Amino acid sequence: MKVTQVRFIKSVFQKRDLPKPRLPEVAFSGRSNVGKSSLINVLLNRKGIARTSMTPGRTQSINFVEINRAFYFVDLPGYGYAHVPLAVRKKWLPLIEGYLTQRPTLCLVTVLGDVRREPQEDEVLFSQWLKQQAIPFAVVLTKIDKVSRQEQMTSLRLWRARLQVEDEIFLFSAKTGEGKDNIWKHLSRCIQCHKPRRSPTFIAV
Ligand code: GTP
Ligand code: MG
Repeated sequence: MKVTQVRFIKSVFQKRDLPKPRLPEVAFSGRSNVGKSSLINVLLNRKGIARTSMTPGRTQSINFVEINRAFYFVDLPGYGYAHVPLAVRKKWLPLIEGYLTQRPTLCLVTVLGDVRREPQEDEVLFSQWLKQQAIPFAVVLTKIDKVSRQEQMTSLRLWRARLQVEDEIFLFSAKTGEGKDNIWKHLSRCIQCHKPRRSPTFIAV
């Protein structure tokens, strides 16, 4: 994917502030600190478009970035992190859940996992929930520069089995850029094939 234009649209803290569903959207989800913002920055060849940090829970809003005037990347707040105060998480959850279930232009959710860890319960539950909701998702295992090739393969097998995904799983390093091209290929396909989701309509008989 040749990225020619990148424009930060807005940070959204409340449902009513969501931008109009206009273009296909790819959302990035995962635990805090897993590398969502770093992945977005590498895919877009921009250092600071998505804020990266050492502080878990730094991304507390839904952040929209427009690419090539053709689609959006959506950086979601990290979930499942004990350091984030309950009051804050209680505010996020309805916002994120509402976004994921009701957004007609959402074409793919990437679920990021740290290659060094086994999938945690919240990650398994989240992927099961996406399946139930018929929301397409792909898994990206991050920080592969921190482990050996053999450990990467072991982790890949484990995540594949636990989250029950076949091909839609990718290894990635924001440090070396490894995996970037494969991920772009998949995202491009999803963006191109996307047809807006419709809410069920009542058919009179
Ligand atoms: P929240 O916004 O808090 O949910 O975090 P996030 O998922 O956006 O993570 P972020 O991209 O901010 O990365 C967290 C930390 O991990 C930062 O210090 C990054 O530099 C580091 N990091 C992210 N991806 C990689 C990677 O592939 N390799 C290495 N070595 N470090 C990474
Ligand atoms: Mg972030």
